[in-house]
Amino acid sequence: MAINIDFSGKTVVVVGGTSGINRGIAELFAKHGAKVAVASRDQAKVDDTVKALQALGAEAMGFAADVRQQDAIKEGLQKVFEAFGQFDVLVSGAAGNFPALANGMSANGFKSVIDIDLLGTFHVMQSAYPHLKKPGASIINISAPQAFLPMAAQAHVCSAKAGVDMITRCLALEWGEEGIRINSIVPGPIEGTEGMKRLAPTDELMELAKQSVPLKRLGLPEDIGNAALFLSSDAASYISGTVIPVDGGWALGGASSLSNQLTEMMKQFLK
Ligand code: NAP
Ligand code: COA
Repeated sequence: MAINIDFSGKTVVVVGGTSGINRGIAELFAKHGAKVAVASRDQAKVDDTVKALQALGAEAMGFAADVRQQDAIKEGLQKVFEAFGQFDVLVSGAAGNFPALANGMSANGFKSVIDIDLLGTFHVMQSAYPHLKKPGASIINISAPQAFLPMAAQAHVCSAKAGVDMITRCLALEWGEEGIRINSIVPGPIEGTEGMKRLAPTDELMELAKQSVPLKRLGLPEDIGNAALFLSSDAASYISGTVIPVDGGWALGGASSLSNQLTEMMKQFLK
């Protein structure tokens, strides 16, 4: 079978798609012909992204909503459905992160990340369900190495992303019979992103992160976009319920060296 990476006429929704990795995914789908909708909290970021997607030649739209507010997400997705039709691809990638040792954050700090990453993913998937193409839809949840690699200063993120991967697996079981495929992508350290600025806030830590990747380079948003394109294409029509690292081999152990250095740095803050 020829690999078909043409998304002409297809509808792709990227929640959390207005910066970094997820915006890279939205732009790649736009370049491959899709109608693309993006959502995040900040209307100015939504508008800027929609303009950029249109400049790539795509039909594009967006809405501002917080994934913690299911009613707002439902309302925004309904508008996308009315304008663009059934969703062929749904990417759920909104997330929050800050490095903090467990004793250096409040219960509300822990909860805020659980609410955005984990509950937010549930809100997005459940709200999109009525609009998903059945059979044929591909859902991609954006996870992180923290989902399976314990990292100090990341108890909140590790807990939340482990949950995201379990939602991927559980709903792949529940919705599989309707022809909906659901997979998680686990990005490695991606260049120029907010996530990496927060996890490796000094040049030294950023270099350590790069050197800890077996392929000896940071990833690019396009690396993650390419995986999302593949997973949503006909070539991946028998792939569902998987958690796929796209990380230059980082999950083999490199992430833990960054974790050790980050722990030392956070301990200095607590002194
Ligand atoms: P980013 O640029 O901060 O992207 C996060 C996106 O989510 C933005 O569009 C943001 O826009 C939106 N967002 C945040 N909180 C939201 C909320 N409560 N409701 C709705 N939208 C919200 O981060 P990134 O570094 O590219 O990370 C993107 C994804 O990749 C995340 O899921 C992250 O966990 C994962 N990841 C990143 C890396 C990395 O190296 N950066 C590695 C592994 C995994 P607004 O501010 O407008 O809401
Ligand atoms: N260390 C410890 N606690 C922190 C913290 C830090 N660096 N940053 C935030 N918190 C705590 C706050 O103190 C607050 O708890 P409190 O009410 O007990 O004081 C709680 O987290 C929520 O913070 P708030 O700023 O009110 O939340 P928010 O909903 O406005 O923002 C965040 C959510 C904190 C996750 C924010 O960083 C964000 O919006 N991130 C999105 C972008 C991002 O993280 N990108 C990378 C993705 S990998």
